[in-house]
Amino acid sequence: MAERVGIVGSGIMGSGIAEVAAKAGSEVVLRSRSQNTADAMVAGLEKSLAKQVERGKLEDGARADILGRVSAISDLGGLADCDLVIESIVEDLPTKKHLFTELDRIVKEGSILATNTSTLPVVEMAMETGRPERVCGIHFFNPAPMMPLVEVVRAITSSDETIAEARAFAEACGKNPVEVKDQAGFIVNALLFPYLNNAVRLYDAGVATKEDIDAAMQGGCNFPMGPLALLDLVGLDTSLSILEALYAEFKDPNYAPAPLLRRMVSAERLGRKSNLGFYDYSKK
Ligand SMILES: NC(=O)c1ccc[n+]([C@@H]2O[C@H](COP(=O)([O-])OP(=O)(O)OC[C@H]3O[C@@H](n4cnc5c(N)ncnc54)[C@H](O)[C@@H]3O)[C@@H](O)[C@H]2O)c1
Repeated sequence: MAERVGIVGSGIMGSGIAEVAAKAGSEVVLRSRSQNTADAMVAGLEKSLAKQVERGKLEDGARADILGRVSAISDLGGLADCDLVIESIVEDLPTKKHLFTELDRIVKEGSILATNTSTLPVVEMAMETGRPERVCGIHFFNPAPMMPLVEVVRAITSSDETIAEARAFAEACGKNPVEVKDQAGFIVNALLFPYLNNAVRLYDAGVATKEDIDAAMQGGCNFPMGPLALLDLVGLDTSLSILEALYAEFKDPNYAPAPLLRRMVSAERLGRKSNLGFYDYSKK
């Protein structure tokens, strides 16, 4: 188990992965670009743990121990001593590649540098570093504290040892890892996103209301949530980036982003994180 884990990115996934790793017993260093958002992430974690204590799902002593293992920083230099760093910043390849160049310069030799990307080529991030054999994908699902799956992504440069350590980390976090090769969408998103994209097209074509599309897939397929509600949870900007990466790799029309999805992102309707997506969350 990695003793000291660095998490880069304070969005939906960065916060969730931080909670998972701290619960598993690692020292967690959260890095956000500003100290304010880094501190807000810790405040969010405090709130989430307090709720779990209230519901009887966590002991109060355990809550304090978990929080005691988490620190928040804005300077990347604070990640130097980490045994494992997982980046979970915006789904944009040039931005992630730049971050890997920086992490390779800063983080001690031999440590694993991992990405939580949903679709982007892990090898391109690996090749920004002087340790491509120590780079892999560790892809958590949303919400990370609840979802049991982790996809461990083997880039063609990843060593067997790196993959074994990534798997062991996922298992120590109580997750069920599967190994997958570095191909856009890996397993889950390669299968899931044509479905989500086609749900947007169906809605845009006026075939049914958004409520009925979601209710149909819940009631007809026993899915825990409908496709439009799931897109709101994932984030419409992240979903658009995922579809663009899938389309760029395979040129399969099922991956070509539905025009409505692109328009909604332009209008900053990003789903739950902006309080408005297919549904309105401002009053919830
Ligand atoms: N949302 C999901 O359901 C989900 C699930 C699994 C994996 N992921 C992946 O996790 C990663 C983060 O997604 P998220 O949903 O947490 O997104 P988010 O929008 O909630 O957070 C993105 C984070 O990136 C930071 N950021 C933006 N531009 C940056 C830059 N130029 N440099 C450094 N940081 C920057 C933001 O400040 C924010 O902290 C992405 O790679 C995404 O594909 C997302």
